[in-house]
Amino acid sequence: MSYNFRTLNYLGSKLRLLDFIEDKILDVTPKDAGICDLFAGSGCVSRKLSRTHAVVACDIQGYSKVIAEALLKKFVLDDNAIDCFFKDINTDMSETLRKVFSPLIELENNAIDKKNLEVLTCILEHGSVEVYKIEHNTSYISDYLSIVSEHLENEHLDGEKSLISRYYGGVYFSYKQAVEIDIILEGIHKFVSEDNRNLFLAALLSTASDIVNTVGKHFAQPIKARDSKGNIKMTVYNKAVKDKTINVIKLYREWLIKYKNLKKNEYPHITMTGDFEQCLKMLPNSVKTVYADPPYTRDHYSRYYHVLETLTLRDNPKISTVTIHGSTHVSNGIYREKRHQSPFCIKSKATGAFRKLFELTAKSGRNLLLSYSPYDETKKSHPRVVTMRQLLSIAEEYFDNVETVSAGSFKHNKLNSSEHFLEASDEAELLIICTNNIQD
Ligand SMILES: C[S@@+](CC[C@H](N)C(=O)[O-])C[C@H]1O[C@@H](n2cnc3c(N)ncnc32)[C@H](O)[C@@H]1O
Repeated sequence: MSYNFRTLNYLGSKLRLLDFIEDKILDVTPKDAGICDLFAGSGCVSRKLSRTHAVVACDIQGYSKVIAEALLKKFVLDDNAIDCFFKDINTDMSETLRKVFSPLIELENNAIDKKNLEVLTCILEHGSVEVYKIEHNTSYISDYLSIVSEHLENEHLDGEKSLISRYYGGVYFSYKQAVEIDIILEGIHKFVSEDNRNLFLAALLSTASDIVNTVGKHFAQPIKARDSKGNIKMTVYNKAVKDKTINVIKLYREWLIKYKNLKKNEYPHITMTGDFEQCLKMLPNSVKTVYADPPYTRDHYSRYYHVLETLTLRDNPKISTVTIHGSTHVSNGIYREKRHQSPFCIKSKATGAFRKLFELTAKSGRNLLLSYSPYDETKKSHPRVVTMRQLLSIAEEYFDNVETVSAGSFKHNKLNSSEHFLEASDEAELLIICTNNIQD
């Protein structure tokens, strides 16, 4: 079913709930109206809705727009375009980049072959060439890092052409994988026409998401190599064998084919990057329903997916720092400076942000369907920043009808007031359906 399509390993992805969400949205949306997916994330809801309606996909993150475009837009590609791409990227620059990184690539490969946990740990903890350039930390691999860094400079490859290898090689990806990502990225910018670029980029984002060497397949932090006593954990080796040896070129080709084969229709879809308020104000009049799936915990998506954002923007970002006991260090996760801080994740700002969401949607005469995933202690998820009760009470200030539907039981609870909300559904996903009576 090509309309149920997984692009990224994404926290809170609604992939499992697509039929339920589509069903409820179609119930309140006129046949030829547009639908806005306001916090599109991995794009799976936009993709599903694009089957029957024109969709406006919005998100604050640039990678989300790339993915939404690849899912919604029609691309014109020759049958042999993919084969040509793989031929084109075999350039002198590709060979030089592989050669410059070869000391680190060989060191890591040997460490995996020989199950050398010390070296694998050192690579995870100190392996970023860019961080080494800033901090000059001494470690078992500092000579290697120093040589690679020097050669990159000599070959004039110390800018965007080595972005992913320099920043994240060894840490989030193996050095070999990171170099292959850089080679593909350079190829996309050099050989792919602007019209087709987002399809090629989306396939690279999906590849990066599949290979990343972390526990949750996100980029919130590299694998913690040691236990609380400082002993190296076996995870270091097991994950290295599982993730760091995945063949990037092969996987990327598979993703390209999957994206290329997606069925598309003729609806005039739109994608936007920006804050939800700004996007809501720019929606075309044809949009009659807004689906909103904002973050509900203090975890900023910009921290979990910063590597995907850097891959998309290709902008050599400054790395953020942390100060502990008076000494300042580059952040462990090698985060971008000035990452987006979502008001939905900040206790003092969240209710204000939700109020704006309800107000702007109601004022423009649109329906709002808001997803809510209740707190599940067993999954060790973080508590929600706002409660269901708070949301319902704000919703009722702006909408005549506020209903809560549970995805778990598919039971239709007609709850028109927060007073009647049963706090029974602890695990099941909820949809708050807000509509206004039509005025004469
Ligand atoms: C729960 S995720 C959405 C998941 C999506 N429904 C899916 O199935 O993949 C929340 C999204 O909200 C975006 N976001 C957070 N704050 C935002 C803001 N102020 N404006 C627009 N988007 C925002 C994040 O980048 C993230 O992609």
